[in-house]
Amino acid sequence: MGGHSDVELVGAIDQGTTSTRFLIFNPHGEVVAAHQIEFKQYYPQPGWHEHDPEELITSVETCIDGAVKHFESHGHSKKQIKAVGITNQRETTVVWDRTTGKPLYNAIVWTDTRSQELVRRLRQRLGSGELTKRCGLPLSTYPSVSKLLWLLENVHGVKDAYDRGVLAFGTVDTWLVFRLNGGLDRNVYVSDASNASRTMFMNIETLRYDDELIDWFRIDRTKVLLPEIVRSADPEAYGSLAGTALKGWPIMGVLGDQSAALVGQKGFSPGLAKNTYGTGCFLLCNVGPKPVISSHGLMTTVAFDFGEGKTMYALEGSIAVAGSSVKFLVDNLGFIESSSDLSALAETVEDNGGCTFVTAFSGLFAPYWVDDARGTIFGITAYTQRGHIARATLEATCFQTKAILDAMEKDSGHGLTELAVDGGMCNSDLIMQTQSDFIGIPVNRPAMRETTAFGAAIAAGLASGLWQSFEDLKETNTKGRTIFKPQISPEEASKRFATWEKAVRMSAGWLN
Ligand code: G3P
Repeated sequence: MGGHSDVELVGAIDQGTTSTRFLIFNPHGEVVAAHQIEFKQYYPQPGWHEHDPEELITSVETCIDGAVKHFESHGHSKKQIKAVGITNQRETTVVWDRTTGKPLYNAIVWTDTRSQELVRRLRQRLGSGELTKRCGLPLSTYPSVSKLLWLLENVHGVKDAYDRGVLAFGTVDTWLVFRLNGGLDRNVYVSDASNASRTMFMNIETLRYDDELIDWFRIDRTKVLLPEIVRSADPEAYGSLAGTALKGWPIMGVLGDQSAALVGQKGFSPGLAKNTYGTGCFLLCNVGPKPVISSHGLMTTVAFDFGEGKTMYALEGSIAVAGSSVKFLVDNLGFIESSSDLSALAETVEDNGGCTFVTAFSGLFAPYWVDDARGTIFGITAYTQRGHIARATLEATCFQTKAILDAMEKDSGHGLTELAVDGGMCNSDLIMQTQSDFIGIPVNRPAMRETTAFGAAIAAGLASGLWQSFEDLKETNTKGRTIFKPQISPEEASKRFATWEKAVRMSAGWLN
């Protein structure tokens, strides 16, 4: 691949829930080099899920160095890279001491349900019903605020830093940008609007912190530093890398990973939607330049803020457990050697054999929002084989996607005609066929499925001038798409979905 040293390129850090990667894209949206690693997950108690903030940084640095090495060994030059973008797992909360720059606790991951009791108390408080209208999110264990409040109530070091006015709060984008810039040396302390819209601190209309919301949560803003909210694509705001093989390279774009996937699928206009089957599964539909507040259990989030006239909102349906249910079959039950074996195991049987698996490991998110649901398998008999459980596992994500699409249709008054997909589980033809069967519309899978990282590359590429406009991206990632069309009757699909909904109702209330 030598002889391309004049082509301009853009790098993308994708810091997800279970893995980190760094990719380098060319202007056609093709991956020129990539490096990926998994990092450690900490589950100290049932329902708890943590990451080591230092390990997140090391994983990013390792991936940048790994990809650049590979890239240079193929005859490319670092000078070709114009800028770097970042995309990240959202809601996950990091707290540190602003005077030392050191984390005060492990990062509490978005899936973590330890704040369940606290959230229950908040729901009793006068005005709790008004929050969603202001910030777009329903009160649950999912947004960052519940994690920060838990830390303030339960971790002495965090409360002490707060009392002394030295507590810094950040979502993962903020933490990465702060540390990749060298920490206290430069003190770059920012968040983009797509990430800030997942905290419950930001007003969804103004894209600024909302003092009434912050007061309602009884957080004293003079005691905790919140990052400045900046645009998702910005040549100045994010500083530059202070280390790694790309030392000195500017960071020019940041997007939460689900927003990035929508951008990477070129969901720039209202009505365009994508579903990403990652650790969780997240369906985002672009609803245009004004936020639409859901009445059917969806979230309102910032799709991207690319500046004047280029800010878009999305309605989002979040599923807490998707790829993580497959990982559960691998790591906890030993059903299969690796996640990629799921389809093969599922194909050893014709159907789910009467089993329905509500994979509510972290409660149920959209559109149900049941904090106290837990994973439950219904319909087990002496006939049940591992293959049936494998099918029921993959069907769970497809059924919940169907519930989200129904909610979206009720909110918007019209249904989607096609669903664009990406993320690890979409590599399985069986899962994508099942998805199309359950939702009754075609599922459209691109050939290049690193759409999340591509979204971050687009943000940085727009800010650096690699692409001048959305129009310039029109021809990227168009070839080699696979379309899955429904193969079962609508009646059969409805019957199966009714069984799922019954199982959902029965899985709730387990902890009471
Ligand atoms: O809201 C959580 C989401 O951002 C995590 O995405 O791809 O790591 O499951 P993913």
